[in-house]
Amino acid sequence: MKRKAIYPGTFDPFTNGHLDVLDRALNIFDEVEVVIGENSQKKTLFTVNDRLEMIREVVCEFPSVSVAVLHDGLLADYARQAGARAIVRGVRQVKDFEYEFQMSLLNRHLYPDVTTVFLMPNVKYTYVASSIIREVAMLGGDVSKFVHPCVLDMLHKKLQEKQKSKS
Ligand code: PNS
Repeated sequence: MKRKAIYPGTFDPFTNGHLDVLDRALNIFDEVEVVIGENSQKKTLFTVNDRLEMIREVVCEFPSVSVAVLHDGLLADYARQAGARAIVRGVRQVKDFEYEFQMSLLNRHLYPDVTTVFLMPNVKYTYVASSIIREVAMLGGDVSKFVHPCVLDMLHKKLQEKQKSKS
């Protein structure tokens, strides 16, 4: 039986830190499904369709990666239906851990067979977070080292839209 994991997140946008975690997950699991979820605490820059398009393009060279959207409902139910026994989450710093610990135990309560696996990205991505990438990019800063070229294009388009709507 294939070992399948899901890798959920808001991915607004998908960064090279996310890609690094995905790459590490592929060393452990046969299949990884990237799942775009809605975090009720977050207002996103990119639509779900934009994020689906960008992640599909970033992962197109990985045959064992698929991309899906969790439109509503619980991640734990999605994991059960998808036949995934593992949820992959990237942890960069100790401050990430409290929220991750809470989510992982809640997901385990909802679906006892699921195990959350925490992976640390390369240290060079420790300070790379989607929120900071969005902020820097929308203020015209260079984020090319931290995102795939297709994500960079999409960020540039968003910046142009923002500048047009101001003028
Ligand atoms: O990248 P994020 O914003 O930290 O990802 C959070 C996400 C989308 C994984 C989380 O909010 C989630 O799982 N949402 C789906 C709804 C759900 O199951 N919520 C309860 C989580 S214990």
